[in-house]
Amino acid sequence: MAPPVVETIKLTKDYDGTRAVDSLDLRIEEGEIFGFLGPNGAGKTTTILMLLGLTEPTLGVAKVCGHDATREPLKVKRITGYLPENVGFYEDLTARENLRYITRLNRIPERQASGKIDEVLEIVGLSEVADREVGRFSRGMKRRLGMADVLVKDPRLVFLDEPTAGIDPDGASQILDFIVSMSKEKGITVLLSSHLLHQVQKICDRVGIIVKGCMVAEGPVERLGREVVGGGQNALEVQVTESSANLIESIESIPGVKAVECSGDMLSIRGDKDVRAEVSRAIFENGSLPLHIRAQDYTLEEIYLKYFREE
Ligand SMILES: Nc1ncnc2c1ncn2[C@@H]1O[C@H](COP(=O)(O)OP(=O)(O)OP(=O)(O)O)[C@@H](O)[C@H]1O
Ligand SMILES: [Mg+2]
Repeated sequence: MAPPVVETIKLTKDYDGTRAVDSLDLRIEEGEIFGFLGPNGAGKTTTILMLLGLTEPTLGVAKVCGHDATREPLKVKRITGYLPENVGFYEDLTARENLRYITRLNRIPERQASGKIDEVLEIVGLSEVADREVGRFSRGMKRRLGMADVLVKDPRLVFLDEPTAGIDPDGASQILDFIVSMSKEKGITVLLSSHLLHQVQKICDRVGIIVKGCMVAEGPVERLGREVVGGGQNALEVQVTESSANLIESIESIPGVKAVECSGDMLSIRGDKDVRAEVSRAIFENGSLPLHIRAQDYTLEEIYLKYFREE
């Protein structure tokens, strides 16, 4: 079986006696979009730098596609794209010239490079301004050029540090769509760090929350919501045409239901499994009709805040 695209084993980094990353175990499989979340100073950038072989771990291992990033940084560099928080370009060169510089640096043959550059400029929506000096670009345009820069190498894996920071909502949503299509169409694995939780929630298959160098929660948003905020419980909100003591009693007797609260025609039901079908049946059998049944969704905001309230 192929090794995971990203794997860290007890990855640890100390800076002058302070632990920035603490025994981090992380696995990201091919094609996943993983959201790396945490407050300022949590250790996100330090983790990314160790995975790129740009800084050495104090303890533990960082691997990309089975290559140890510390021992084989060039192999890792060849298959990885990196969008740092602040991308730097040559301001007096055009967008196309900047990308040409990158392809030369990466030893992509000239003939292959020019087609590739046109393709990525088209993807990020910069074709029309390709021959304009980057010094005259807006922040959003520079961010798009940063994405083009990441893509021009045909990476298997990309690290995106706050890819939508400082970009207007329309531009941000285009970049997010673009990250999703890059991942789904080309099978590129994505690790993205962000503070913009609703954006992360929209596009990530899985998230990890890092606090003071430690991973405190990890998984699909939906599962984390149930475990972290809902105390491991499923919650249902149900509206009925008519509620009655009998109805509440029969819902309470459904296996898996832990508690039922009733307020007018609204019932809130907590259980340790999904009981929507059984609840609907009980409503019919008691001569009432369900007008609305909703399983409670937890937002990443709620999950995230939970960790900071408990500190
Ligand atoms: N070069 C360095 N020298 C000393 N300490 C550092 C260095 N780089 C980072 N640190 C410290 O390591 C810790 C983790 O920093 P890191 O930049 O990884 O956080 P982050 O999660 O990326 O934060 P942000 O959301 O602000 O980008 C912080 O306490 C920071 O002060
Ligand atoms: Mg950072």
